[in-house]
Amino acid sequence: MLKRRTLLAAAGVALGALAAVPAAAQETVKVGLILPMTGPFASTGRQVSAGAKTFLEMKGDTVAGKKIELIIRDDAGVADQTRRIAQELVVNEGVKLLAGGGLTPLAMAVAPVATQAKVPMIVTSAGTASITKASPFITRTSGTLPQYSLPVGTWAAENGIKKVVTLVSDYGPGIDAEKWFSKEFKGKGGEIIEAVRVPLANPDFAPFLQRVRDAKPDAVFVFLPSGAGALFMKQFADRGLPEAGVKLIATGDVTDDDILNSMGKPALGTITGHFYATAHDSPENKAYVEAFTKANDNMRPNFMSVGGYDSMALIYAALEKTNGDVSGPAFMEAVKGMSWTSPRGPVSIDPETRDIIQNIYMREVKELDGELHNVEFATFKDLKDPEKAEAN
Ligand code: PHB
Repeated sequence: MLKRRTLLAAAGVALGALAAVPAAAQETVKVGLILPMTGPFASTGRQVSAGAKTFLEMKGDTVAGKKIELIIRDDAGVADQTRRIAQELVVNEGVKLLAGGGLTPLAMAVAPVATQAKVPMIVTSAGTASITKASPFITRTSGTLPQYSLPVGTWAAENGIKKVVTLVSDYGPGIDAEKWFSKEFKGKGGEIIEAVRVPLANPDFAPFLQRVRDAKPDAVFVFLPSGAGALFMKQFADRGLPEAGVKLIATGDVTDDDILNSMGKPALGTITGHFYATAHDSPENKAYVEAFTKANDNMRPNFMSVGGYDSMALIYAALEKTNGDVSGPAFMEAVKGMSWTSPRGPVSIDPETRDIIQNIYMREVKELDGELHNVEFATFKDLKDPEKAEAN
């Protein structure tokens, strides 16, 4: 009798222990956020991670009975590192969701890992249209270069600009920007007189700006990745392009809110198209900017930070829909067609392409309360990525 009771008691302990382990393990969902936290694109990592953390601070770290644990890793902007870290997080750390992709090559490096492991990857930053085609497990909360370059072409053609030189970083997003600005601008009667591509790494814009000046266009259309705009703006002014009558039009990556204020007077009057401005006027953005600046020593949130914030918004909305099921196929089904109100305005995920549908705003750099801001003056509503719309 004694023996039997002891055995039962022991079994009870063992069963209890067994039951406790999977329950505890299920309650935490690890999200691997891989970003360039060091190196030339560290501002992207700083902004995206701060945006994601702001979401958790504002909404709490629990959704559908799961505790969300963010694991932030630095790839230093090197694609081989991104892939290695993604693999390590999935295989050794039990990460169920991946996010990040600070630059196109870094996002592309994660695609085979996402496909093989069936782990969803939410691209927070990179903007080359083809990224979402690289894996059925990729979705995106930034935007695509075709999506926000096309409206700049519309605006230019409708606002008296006849001749343009394009100047873009020579890799995926730059080539997408050049193609879609030019296609739209030419379609509406404009002329592209030269297409200049500059290296991504350590660019010196001076010789390229001389070419632009010599071509005597009405305007130069520019795409450069977040962070590179400050040096460009300085060299644009130093080379005397404003005095030569060359207007600057660009994607909003160039007048990135993170560095805009430090660009000073030369930036005033620059016209850009993009999906987010710190000065966007909405209650959601007001609350976001307030929480973000408070938590980050008054740093201004830029569009990268909103990509990070919305990656968490999408994860929360999807997990609510799946009742906490984080398996890849269930999560990706839930993501398709999901809509929510972002600090940038209304957004949704295109169920066919898994890319984001959003407003693109035309903005002008102006002084507001003694600081430089991208001030919105027109809205292109609910734009899909035109590259994929064209292919369908
Ligand atoms: C990209 O590499 O796709 C990229 C990087 C920075 C940007 C936009 C796109 O601001």
